[in-house]
Amino acid sequence: MLHQKVLVLDFGGQYNQLIARRVRDLGVYCELLPCDLSLEQIKAFSPIGIIFTGGPNSVYDEAAPRISPAVFSLGVPVLGICYGAQLIAHTLGGKVVHANKSEYGKREFSFVKQNPLSSNIPERSVCWMSHTDLVQDLPSGFETLASTQSCENALFGCEEKKIYGVQFHPEVVHSEYGNKLLENFLYLVCGAKGDWTMKNFAQEQVEKLRARIGSGKVLCAMSGGVDSAVAATLVHRAVGENLTCVFVDHGLHRKDEPEEVMRVFKEGMGMNLIKADAGERFLGALRGVTDPEKKRHIIGDLFIRVFEEEAKKIGKVDFLAQGTIYPDVIESGKGKSAVIKSHHNVGGLPDVIDFKEIVEPLRDLFKDEVRRVGLELGLPENIVRRQPCPGPALAIRIMGEVTREKLETVRDADAIFREEIARAGLSEDIWQYFAVLTDSKTVGVQGDFRTYENVIALRAVTSVDAMTADWARIPFEVLEKTSVRITNEVEHANRVVYDITSKPPATIEWE
Ligand code: XMP
Repeated sequence: MLHQKVLVLDFGGQYNQLIARRVRDLGVYCELLPCDLSLEQIKAFSPIGIIFTGGPNSVYDEAAPRISPAVFSLGVPVLGICYGAQLIAHTLGGKVVHANKSEYGKREFSFVKQNPLSSNIPERSVCWMSHTDLVQDLPSGFETLASTQSCENALFGCEEKKIYGVQFHPEVVHSEYGNKLLENFLYLVCGAKGDWTMKNFAQEQVEKLRARIGSGKVLCAMSGGVDSAVAATLVHRAVGENLTCVFVDHGLHRKDEPEEVMRVFKEGMGMNLIKADAGERFLGALRGVTDPEKKRHIIGDLFIRVFEEEAKKIGKVDFLAQGTIYPDVIESGKGKSAVIKSHHNVGGLPDVIDFKEIVEPLRDLFKDEVRRVGLELGLPENIVRRQPCPGPALAIRIMGEVTREKLETVRDADAIFREEIARAGLSEDIWQYFAVLTDSKTVGVQGDFRTYENVIALRAVTSVDAMTADWARIPFEVLEKTSVRITNEVEHANRVVYDITSKPPATIEWE
C-alpha cells in the first residue's frame, strides 16, 4: 500500500487539522506533523509536496518556529499558508513587516498573473484573511501572483522551484475558491494522482487486518459511537467470529441506542456481540453524587470494571481493537494542557485486559473519513452519521444527581430535539445538539393548574473540532416546535431555554 503522501507541517495555527482534512478530501493522503521535524525525517517521509500551516507567531518573535532553508532545496513543492507564507519569505531573504492593523475577515483578491494555482479560479474572488504581519518584499526569483487591496502579496511564488506562499486561508469555507487553490497545488504542482479513497482504504485494511491477526482472538469495546462501530466492522470483515465485542450498557445512553446497536451488529451482521447490562450498577454508584468530575470518574472506573469482568469470561485474547482516530493521535502528541474535564474514553482498558497487541485500524483517519468508510462497509446512515456523544452520556447532561426518573425526562426531551432537527434537515450542519436537564425548577401553568417542574435547556453548536464552538443559529420555528413538543410530551418539564453561549467561555457539554 504505497500512497502518495503530502506532509503538512504544523506551525500551531488553529486551522491545522482542517488543512489536513481538506487535502485528504481531495484524494491525497497527508499527515500533520510537528514543524520541528528534522530534514532527515522530512526526507524519510518522502512527500510529493509540503504544506506549512499558519501559526500564532510573528517571524520576528524569538521563540517563533523556523524551517531549515535546506527544505527548499529538496525539489519538493512547498505551499506556505499565512505564517507559513511569511516564513518562506523570511527564510529565503524577503521582508515581512508588521501591518498597522490586523486584517481579519472576508476580502476580495485578484490574480495579477496566471499561474498553476489560479487554474479554473475566476480572476476575482473572496478570500478569508486573518493576520497582522504581511510579506512586503519577495525573495529573489519570486513574483506576486495575487493581491488584495491591503495586501499586495496575498499569493506569491516561484514557479521554477514550485514554492508558493498564500497570505489568506484557502482551507476555510469562507475562501470561495480556497479548495480549488489547494487542489491546484496538489494536482498541478505536486502531481498528485488522487489515490486516497475510502473504498481502497477499507479493502486494504481488511486485508492487512487479516494478515496481521491470522487466527488470533480479538476483543473490542463497542460504545455505540461511530469510531468503535467502524473499527469493529473492519475487524469483523477480516476475522469474523474470532472477534468478540462487548457493549457496556450503562443505562445512560440516548433513546433506543442500546437496542439499535444490538439490532445492527448482532442480528444484522452476525457479530459476536455481548451486552453487559449494568444500568443498575451505574445508577447505584451515582446515587447522591452531584459533582460533575466525580460523576465522570465513577462512570469511567465502573465502565472499565464491567468490561474487565466480561473480558475475563472470554479468557485470554491476542488483540484489543480500539477505535482511535487521527485527531486522538494528534492530540495525544501535544503537551499537557489544563484539565477542564476528565474525558472518558476506553483509554484505561489496555491496563486491565490481558492481550498481546492493540489494533487501531482507524488511526490514520479523520472523523469524516471514518464515516465514509462506515458507509463503504454498508453500515446504516443513522449509525454512521451519529453525532459525538461523551462517554458518560446522559449522566453529564443531568445537572445534579442522576436518577432513573431524570434519565427518562432528559432522554425523551433529547429524542424530540433530535427528531425536530432531523425533520428540519439540519443534522448535517450542526456539530452536536442535545437536551440538558437543569437542576432548576420553575413555576408554570398547564391546563388550569400550577406546575412546578424542571427547566430543559437545548444546546446545539457548530464546530470543526470541538475545541471551539459557536451556538447554532437554529430557525425559531424549529426551536418553537421542539419547545411545544417537549412541554407537552415530556413528563416533569414545563419550560425550555436555548443556550446561546459559545465555547469558550462555555464548554459544549454542561458538565
Ligand atoms: P466540551 O464539553 O469539553 O466537549 O466542550 C468537547 C467535545 O468532547 C465531547 N466530550 C467527551 N467525549 N468522552 C468523550 O469521548 C468524554 O468524557 C467527553 N466529554 C465531552 C463533547 O461531547 C464534545 O464533543
